[in-house]
Amino acid sequence: MCGIVGYVGHRQAQDVIMDGLKRLEYRGYDSAGIVVTGDPELDVVKRAGKLSVLSDVLKTTPLKGNLGLGHTRWATHGKPNDVNAHPHLSEDSKLAVIHNGIIENYLPLKERLVEAGHVFLSETDTEVLVHLIEENYEGDLYAAVQKSLSEVTGAYALVVSHADHDLIVAARNTSPMVLGIGDGENFVASDVPALLPYTKEVIFLHDGDLVLITNDGVTISDFAGNVIDREVSTVEWDAEAAEKGGFEHYMLKEMYEQPAVIQQTLGGRLAGNGMDVQLDIGLDPNSIDRVIIAAAGTASYAGMVGEYLIEKLARLPVEVEVASEFRYRDPVVDERTLCIVVSQSGETIDTLEALREAKRGGAKTLGIINSKGSTITREVDDTIYIHAGPEIGVASTKAYMTMLAAFELLGIWLGRARGTLADADAKELIAALRQTPKLIEEALKNRDEVAKIAEQFKNYKDYLFLGRGINFPSALEGALKLKEISYIHAEAYATGEMKHGPIALIDDQMPVVAIATASPLYEKTVSNIQEVKARDGIVIAIANDGDTEIEKHADYVLRVPETHELISPLVNVIPLQMLAYETANRLELDVDQPRNLAKSVTVE
Ligand code: M6R
Repeated sequence: MCGIVGYVGHRQAQDVIMDGLKRLEYRGYDSAGIVVTGDPELDVVKRAGKLSVLSDVLKTTPLKGNLGLGHTRWATHGKPNDVNAHPHLSEDSKLAVIHNGIIENYLPLKERLVEAGHVFLSETDTEVLVHLIEENYEGDLYAAVQKSLSEVTGAYALVVSHADHDLIVAARNTSPMVLGIGDGENFVASDVPALLPYTKEVIFLHDGDLVLITNDGVTISDFAGNVIDREVSTVEWDAEAAEKGGFEHYMLKEMYEQPAVIQQTLGGRLAGNGMDVQLDIGLDPNSIDRVIIAAAGTASYAGMVGEYLIEKLARLPVEVEVASEFRYRDPVVDERTLCIVVSQSGETIDTLEALREAKRGGAKTLGIINSKGSTITREVDDTIYIHAGPEIGVASTKAYMTMLAAFELLGIWLGRARGTLADADAKELIAALRQTPKLIEEALKNRDEVAKIAEQFKNYKDYLFLGRGINFPSALEGALKLKEISYIHAEAYATGEMKHGPIALIDDQMPVVAIATASPLYEKTVSNIQEVKARDGIVIAIANDGDTEIEKHADYVLRVPETHELISPLVNVIPLQMLAYETANRLELDVDQPRNLAKSVTVE
């Protein structure tokens, strides 16, 4: 959500910024802009639409200079047009501001500034920052930003430059930002991929950090000006891992990476005795008597699978909470509650605030997270990293897969520690878990079959997804994937719930994807499929290889290999991801950057 790149050094700033913004495209945006410190003024270009529109302008009028800022904007206040795009400049065109987040008190500030004679050009909340900093500027940019921030409330990753200074000032409150440390050059960005071609030495900024960046170094202080020493981390990802690697889309590449990345999640965590799991976390499993899982979107569906696993294996009551609701409803939490927050980015604001709410109640906290150094990892007691590597496609695939794997590990670990999971059951589950990469690979081979279904139903307006037990979340995830990237309306229901309402929707225009893999409830699922067929519904069953019975009931069958029921969501999600991908691709939609969506949602 909004991409930021700032550069000061010996290279042409335009090249570094445009390259960095391209690498941040996955975050989601609808306009883009760049400012470079020229001589004597700042040179700025801003355009609505994709980065290619901005690039075309820069091809004919390149901006020359070694210091600059770039921004991709995901509109919150004001339409995505040229004027509202960042950077915003002061009236004397000397001061430039880019910003990610929301300035909550922008209206009273704007009123005051307008009264003082400032003329606003855009409809954005960000523009108040330019006028405020301009008003406080007396020759020292750092001091002007510092003074201005004392008047601002809200969330921001803020980056400022001035035509008279070879430096950048940045500040963070809630919205993520990272510094890249180079040799005679330094960088600031909203996420690591923008920095990877230039440096792997990074500093993740914390809330309340104010930074002065020059080509020689970076100085971090708090908003009062007290210097802070922040750790420099070395990023393990390389730039290549964040590239498409020959695949048509990031999403496709990331789906095919799943057999490998799940090995990274499991690797080193399955004990040699074949029945235990080693997790490097400090939690005492007997110090809790209740679990709350808070997350958003796909991560919350991974949490629902986690609920099923933890209740079954560790006999602990679990509630899954939509993070954006949890924080506002005065939830009951105490020191015997474990709050698990699940997030690929580790920056989702709703999830972060749910975590903070749980901490206020005294809960112990655990993150299931992909991005190292992210804000959530810094605020939880412990983290289980999912090790999915960079996920660029807005539609989450491999992060979901590895979140599920992390919950499998956690469920077994808790079950063993609490004495609720017997040796034989643990052995069976772990043996099945070890087979999962191979089974996912098998499932991925059925792409052609899924593609035929996608072709046949790509112009239908609605889809229904059904699943039960531990595969009800799989149905929810299948529907979300299809909605996100193909814009086809899709709903998911627990299969047994269908007769309580959704069955009224069934007709020959509503394909129904029914998950019917091996489970004690298989027979009941088949009965529910018959109920759909009896009403002229079109049934696409997800069923195990070798299940011939299903062919008598379903119109189409998509095959997946059979596994332990508790592990089946990891395999069953493959045809669901693939169906969404193949449908969106056939509709010639932007698979990796679907409309209106952002990869990392850092505003409420
Ligand atoms: O970074 P997070 O895992 O916290 O993101 C949570 C959701 O925004 C995310 O899963 C979203 O639903 C995806 N676009 C799903 O594909």
